[in-house]
Amino acid sequence: MGRVLVTRRLPDGGLDPLAAHELVGPNADDAPFPPAELRAHAAEVDGIVCVLTDRIDGDLLKAGAAGRLRVVANVAVGYDNIDVVAAREHGIVVCNTPGVLDDTTADLAFALILAASRLLHDAEADLRAVRWQGWGITQYLGQDVHDATLGIVGYGRIGRAVARRASGFDMRVLHYARADTGEPGFVADLDDLLRESDIVTLHVPGGEATRHLIDARRLALMKPTAVLVNTARGPVVDEEALADALYSGRLFAAGLDVFEHEPLVSERLLHAPRTVLLPHIGSASQATRTQMARLASSAVGTVLAGGTPPNVVG
Ligand code: GLV
Repeated sequence: MGRVLVTRRLPDGGLDPLAAHELVGPNADDAPFPPAELRAHAAEVDGIVCVLTDRIDGDLLKAGAAGRLRVVANVAVGYDNIDVVAAREHGIVVCNTPGVLDDTTADLAFALILAASRLLHDAEADLRAVRWQGWGITQYLGQDVHDATLGIVGYGRIGRAVARRASGFDMRVLHYARADTGEPGFVADLDDLLRESDIVTLHVPGGEATRHLIDARRLALMKPTAVLVNTARGPVVDEEALADALYSGRLFAAGLDVFEHEPLVSERLLHAPRTVLLPHIGSASQATRTQMARLASSAVGTVLAGGTPPNVVG
C-alpha cells in the first residue's frame, strides 16, 4: 500500500484502481494546489495522479525524488505540463491516458469543423440576442464541409479518428506528419497541405517542438475561404497572428478548444468574427473522463506494485 496524491476531483469511480492505497487530496473545494503546496505533497507521497493544469516541473520532481515519489500519472493524453526529462533523471515514471479519448476528442474536432464552417456561433448569438429579423437568403453564408478538402496536421490516433469521420462527409482527406506514413493522403510539406486544404485541423502534441507551428507566415498560405480548427494545444497556433487573419478576413473562420494562456483568452480572440471558442472540452464526455481517470489511477497502482503499465511516456 502506498500514499498517492490526487490533485483534483475526478469522475466517480475514477480512483477505484487505487482503493488499496492511502489517498491525499484533492482540496475539498477542488481548488488547485499552489506550486509550493504541490511540491510539499510530492515530497511525501509514492505516486501522484494529476491533471494537465498542474505544473509538474523539475523542482517538484526533485523534491519528490528526495522523498519516495515513484510515479506521476497525468489524466490526459498530452503531457506538456510535465518535465519528462527531469522525471527520467530522477527515476520517476510518467504515465498518460492514450487510446481512451481518441473518438471523443475527434467528435469534438468535428463539431468545431461543422460549427466554424457554417458560422453556427454568429448565427446563434444573433438569434439569442434577438437581433435576427427574419430569414434572409444571403444571411450566414458559410462554407460547405461535405466534399471539402480536410488537412489533418498530426496523424496519430486522434488525427486518424477525425479522418474516419471525414469519409462520412465525402471529404478529400490529406494529412501531414513528421515521418512519412506511407498512407494515401500523406503530404510531406506542411506548407503544401495548408495551401491545398479548405479546412485544417490540428492534432499534434504540445511542447517546444510544435510552438507556433501555425504562425503568421503559414496562416498566410491558407485559402481566404479556409477554416482552422485547434483541439490540440493552444501554443501550436500564434493566437495574435490568428486574430489578425480573422479580423482582416484573410482566413474565413476558426474553431478553438485550446488557447495559448489558458484559462485566459485574448480579448481579440474573444471578439473575433466567425470564431467558435470552447473551454478545452475535447475529451469531456462522462464515459471518457471516467476511463481516463481509471487508466491513470491504474498506472499508479501498477508501478507501486512493482509492475510496468502500458501507458508510460518518455
Ligand atoms: C487533453 O487535452 C488531453 O491531453 O487529454
